Amino acid sequence: MFATRQITSLAQRSFSTSASSNAAKVAVLGAAGGIGQPLSLLLKQSSLISHLSLYDIVNTPGVAADLSHINTDSKVTGHIPKDDGLKEALTGCDVVVIPAGVPRKPGMTRDDLFNTNASIVRDLAVACAEHCPKAHVLVIANPVNSTVPIVAEVFQKAGVFDPKKLFGVTTLDVVRASRFVSEVKKVSTEDAKITVIGGHSGVTIVPLLSQSGHSFTEEEVKALTKRIQFGGDEVVQAKNGTGSATLSMAFAGARFTNSLLEATVAGKKGVVEPTFVKSDIFAAQGVEYFATNVELGAQGVEKIHAVGKVNAYEQTLIDAAIPELKSNIAKGKAFINKA
Ligand code: NAI
Repeated sequence: MFATRQITSLAQRSFSTSASSNAAKVAVLGAAGGIGQPLSLLLKQSSLISHLSLYDIVNTPGVAADLSHINTDSKVTGHIPKDDGLKEALTGCDVVVIPAGVPRKPGMTRDDLFNTNASIVRDLAVACAEHCPKAHVLVIANPVNSTVPIVAEVFQKAGVFDPKKLFGVTTLDVVRASRFVSEVKKVSTEDAKITVIGGHSGVTIVPLLSQSGHSFTEEEVKALTKRIQFGGDEVVQAKNGTGSATLSMAFAGARFTNSLLEATVAGKKGVVEPTFVKSDIFAAQGVEYFATNVELGAQGVEKIHAVGKVNAYEQTLIDAAIPELKSNIAKGKAFINKA
């Protein structure tokens, strides 16, 4: 018995050593923030990351020193703008996660963050295009519907845009949807897998409850849809001016990053996550980016899943999302292409 256990533990150790030898360098930009710190903590636990590179305008040396004492195999480094810190943080990166930017206060929409966050994301994208043009870029900073097009335009201008490698992180919407439905239907979250499509703000968040395998009353559908669309507001109000979702977002961001690493580094097949990507699904209606379930593969986006069958109510939600998405996307593009 003892011998078996010892062999298993040796095998696990050598697996983790070999996993980290071809594991990824992952940068978190905005790593000292409310999302950045718990996200970095969760990523420190991944054996698919060999180097966790933490960048922020402040405080990352402390965050990195703290995380670097955790006895998992990845190296952790902290960078601030001084001494070409951003270049150092990004050089050689396989994946860049961007939670940098200001969060909402009560009464604000995600679009209200545009003026501040658009330039933060633009400047970080310019640096990514220069120092790690082949990296997968995962955008958390809001408004995601506009910040993703901003990154795309920057990469396009630099001649390095690969639409398969740019992702708006909408995972929190399906995480919330799963939890809220599990509460209503009194089932495990494992049995509450909810597809959410569209974008990541208010009416652009479109849950497809009819595809969940559960049945709902009309009242339940309306209440759940509203809660999934505006769940972020519950956190913003409860935090009362001190920020928006950080811990649940870190969980969701780590889930998406880990799924991408499983597909790109570990070669796992059939990894599917929802994400806001360049997509043909509603291109005919002028929507260039759209969130649906996406199969991830070695090069990033492998296959964009179709929306599937929707009912009349869900169609009205899609119809409401489309003009808002178009305007959010156009705003992001115009920000880079102005002047
Ligand atoms: P926070 O204010 O706690 O942290 C943001 C961090 O970004 C700070 O540490 C700040 O120093 C840093 N930062 C600012 N400018 C920077 C720059 N130029 N380079 C590098 N770092 C910079 O905010 P929190 O709560 O972490 O939220 C971050 C963003 O994530 C917000 O835009 C928020 O709206 C968004 N968010 C997105 C969600 C999603 O589902 N995609 C969910 C929740 C929040």
